[in-house]
Amino acid sequence: MNIILMGPPGAGKGTQASLLKDKYNIPHISTGDIFREAVEKSTDMGIEAKKYMDKGQLVPDEVTIGIVSDRLAQGDCAKGFLLDGFPRTTVQAQALDEVMKKMGKAISVAVNISVSSNILIERIAGRVSCGKCKTVYNLTLLPPDNTHTCVKCGGELIQRDDDKAETALKRLEVYQAQTSPLLEYYEKQKVLVNIDGDKGSEGVFEIISKLLDALQ
Ligand code: AP5
Ligand code: MG
Repeated sequence: MNIILMGPPGAGKGTQASLLKDKYNIPHISTGDIFREAVEKSTDMGIEAKKYMDKGQLVPDEVTIGIVSDRLAQGDCAKGFLLDGFPRTTVQAQALDEVMKKMGKAISVAVNISVSSNILIERIAGRVSCGKCKTVYNLTLLPPDNTHTCVKCGGELIQRDDDKAETALKRLEVYQAQTSPLLEYYEKQKVLVNIDGDKGSEGVFEIISKLLDALQ
């Protein structure tokens, strides 16, 4: 199954992708995670991407498309993949169509996790992740006596630079302007399925799993 997970910042794409990759044994390709890793390692690409990420803007299409095309050509994607945070512009969606065509493949489904704006803001404000193993948490769901330490590996829990209020609001604006038109793009391709993401993560996972099970 070749799956695209769509939705605004804070919708729960990464949270669902972490659960789905294990259940369906397919790689999770998150362009945001790829960029954050490159920033951490201070690679040329990371230094370039950080300029945009810190402002809540999109990294230029040519950079992002190149990264995803290379990743999809790797052997572990032969049995399917889960794209999280890509495509985000019409140019990226068209490039993905081209890559898929060349590989003789097609998008199986584009799952749009739809969440109310006030909930998105709360989720982004409360998000922390482990600096070591990258597990994502939310402060509202952590026990009040342990909001600093990862329960899995003991690493320090940190806030993403782009989750600061001003940058997060910019990301939501950029999503509306540049990414939300893709819902129509995939609707026309008859692969779009809208999911109610206002529920808790387990409820959302159950809905997406049922949908994917029916497609297998
Ligand atoms: P990226 O990392 O992709 O960020 P995003 O799309 O803004 O999405 P988020 O990661 O913020 O949200 P999410 O939907 O994954 O939510 P999560 O599961 O963490 O991109 C970052 C930047 O990189 C971009 O701004 C851009 O600069 C650049 N970039 C990336 N891709 C690009 C591209 N294709 N082109 C150009 N530039 C690109 O959940 C959020 C919080 O809510 C967590 O705390 C979680 O625990 C909690 N939560 C999740 N689900 C639930 C639930 N159901 N109930 C309660 N809490 C929940
Ligand atoms: Mg994410």
